[in-house]
Amino acid sequence: LEFAGRTAFVTGGANGIGLGVVRALLAQGCKVAIADIREEAIADALKTLDNQHVMGVPLDVASRSGFADAADRAEAALGPVSLLFNNAGINLFQTIDESSYDDWDWVMGVNLHGVINGVMTFAPRMKAAGQGGHIVNTASMASFLCGPAPGIYNTTKFAVRGMSESLRYSLAPHGIGVSVLCPGLVKSHIYASDAIRPEALSATARPVDSAAVDRLAQIHQFGMEPDVIAARTLDAIRENRFHIFSHPEFRDELETLFGEILADFRDYPSDSGFAERTGFEKIR
Ligand code: NAI
Repeated sequence: LEFAGRTAFVTGGANGIGLGVVRALLAQGCKVAIADIREEAIADALKTLDNQHVMGVPLDVASRSGFADAADRAEAALGPVSLLFNNAGINLFQTIDESSYDDWDWVMGVNLHGVINGVMTFAPRMKAAGQGGHIVNTASMASFLCGPAPGIYNTTKFAVRGMSESLRYSLAPHGIGVSVLCPGLVKSHIYASDAIRPEALSATARPVDSAAVDRLAQIHQFGMEPDVIAARTLDAIRENRFHIFSHPEFRDELETLFGEILADFRDYPSDSGFAERTGFEKIR
């Protein structure tokens, strides 16, 4: 895939990984729309980038109509989008048994429905434009590896990985590649997600523990630089590779996980006539 001249739409592009991706795309000669809910952060990003090929579009990815409007605005100014980065995300660092329905609605709305809205808005446009292209959905290593917390986040990221894999097969005939980005710790502002929690989903929110937020802020300082993640993401697009594992140190943990999964199989007799009766042999 040639990057130069293509138009990209990056959700959550005003900070962290998204901003890294924006910088990398501009360096490759793309035109880029930064879609983000933080309007001040968009303004700061545009100022720092100081590039005539980038624009800002205020967007809450959880809004279906907002997404369609933002897509119209970006395409009117920059031409048809053929590179889509569904990257906006938030985290609530708590366990499922500590969580309320408002917590579920907020995190599912941004992390899962935000990606669904991106795909539902742009996949038909990308197919119709006939330029091929690529969609990158940002999941996380948390789309494979779980601890007790953050349970809702894990749920959304597993779902993003699943939908990305299915989408990969259905968009391949249209020359549109799909990748799922699975980083470990990244230097970003995700610890400050509470600041953008909508009022309407805040009634049952647990009070913000500012000491915990400070600790998370410190931990994220040790994360990988977004520019490194972005470079590895563009490599994967060039190779049309599905999984983007930016942090090689997780390989061993995945190997252990896959070993545990296979070890859960038991030696039951298999249904040998299944394929003949149903016509299904394998899912893939
Ligand atoms: P960040 O907080 O620095 O950047 C996320 C951006 O998304 C922010 O600019 C924020 O304003 C925007 N955003 C949040 N909710 C939005 C909404 N409803 N509509 C539009 N924009 C919205 O965080 P980071 O870390 O760069 O996050 C990007 C993605 O990377 C997320 O999907 C996150 O889950 C994922 N990730 C982050 C990791 C980390 O260690 N920071 C590790 C693995 C995955």
